[in-house]
Amino acid sequence: MPRDLIDRPSVAAAAKAGPLMDTFGRAVTYLRVSVTDRCDFRCVYCMAEHMTFLPKQDLLSLEELDRLCSAFVLRGVRKLRLTGGEPLVRRDVMTLFRSLSRHLETGQLEELTLTTNGSQLARHAADLAACGVKRINVSIDTLDPAKFRAITRWGELSKVLEGVSTAKAAGLKVKINAVALKDVNEHEIASMMEWAHGEGHDLSLIEVMPLGEVGEERVDQYLPLSDVRARLEERFTLTDIAYRTGGPARYVEVKETGGRLGFITPLTHNFCEGCNRVRVTCTGTLYMCLGQEDAADLRAPLRATRDDAVLQAAIDEAIFRKPKGHDFVIDRRTRQPAVGRHMSTTGG
Ligand code: GTP
Ligand code: 5AD
Ligand code: SF4
Repeated sequence: MPRDLIDRPSVAAAAKAGPLMDTFGRAVTYLRVSVTDRCDFRCVYCMAEHMTFLPKQDLLSLEELDRLCSAFVLRGVRKLRLTGGEPLVRRDVMTLFRSLSRHLETGQLEELTLTTNGSQLARHAADLAACGVKRINVSIDTLDPAKFRAITRWGELSKVLEGVSTAKAAGLKVKINAVALKDVNEHEIASMMEWAHGEGHDLSLIEVMPLGEVGEERVDQYLPLSDVRARLEERFTLTDIAYRTGGPARYVEVKETGGRLGFITPLTHNFCEGCNRVRVTCTGTLYMCLGQEDAADLRAPLRATRDDAVLQAAIDEAIFRKPKGHDFVIDRRTRQPAVGRHMSTTGG
């Protein structure tokens, strides 16, 4: 444990308070931290075309984010994922990676990682590897540059692919995330999988989730992964495997490609009973579930005093309220999103 932490009496108390456990007996060991709500893309399933972002003065500083993350690490969080918006557009974000990497060195943290749109990855890949990041997730929904531009509204596929190759060359293991989109990439999934596996990357497919108004009907976007899997099985041999990454994906091995394919199925197969995670936003708001509105403010306790006891008490109180799961529905009758905020608020 770092010296500055050992010396605070509340730290000893927090460590004694032990791991974070919710009322359903689930241990919280995975913290997702959205370091900015901003992004240089405007993916059609994530954001509306015109978004209002938080004023910069509302954001926690990098030092405050570090303190917040460290408070969770002290309580048994083993996996930290920085998200956004796009985490790599936050100014000086590498300073945060660098300081958080001390928890990897002490062994308190097992994994420090990020989920990125890849646009700035080429610039940061080597530094990320130097900070002890081993495995990253990069979102790519199509390999067709025009379609990529249409989905992301602003993105350039070649830059993202350059980021992915630079990351691979820097020794980072890359997992590709693709949101399955009806009529948009549904006929491309097999070829994307062949490409990803050919490059040595795992691929995870994600069902679209109804967060925030995005200006399109969710039923028009939603493609159930049960259908995708059935279609893939006409051409490929998929075998369920026990491999886990700590997130919600369930994996299969694909005999023909020798690669791994993950399915993230919040709609067709709820995985909430095994939930091990919470997320905190760049303003210090803690969401105990991606699919519920309930949240706890950690910024006020964080700023109230240098002593973390107040913060730890607020974390305990919030984890106590962690709900059983989400209530996502996508059908013709349900017009309202499950929650008002966009995915970019919490980074998934
Ligand atoms: P791994 O460490 O590779 O397992 O990553 P991960 O799947 O935990 O993280 P990633 O950021 O790649 O997220 C992939 C997708 O899973 C995103 O669409 C997230 O919104 C979604 N996801 C992650 N956690 C949850 C969750 O608790 N509930 C739901 N419904 N979706 C989640
Ligand atoms: N539903 C499902 N996945 C989403 N993502 C962003 N918005 C949504 C949504 N509404 C994905 C991104 C990224 C991950 C963090 O979440 O594509 O891969
Ligand atoms: Fe940006 Fe990621 Fe949202 Fe796309 S999904 S707009 S890349 S935050």
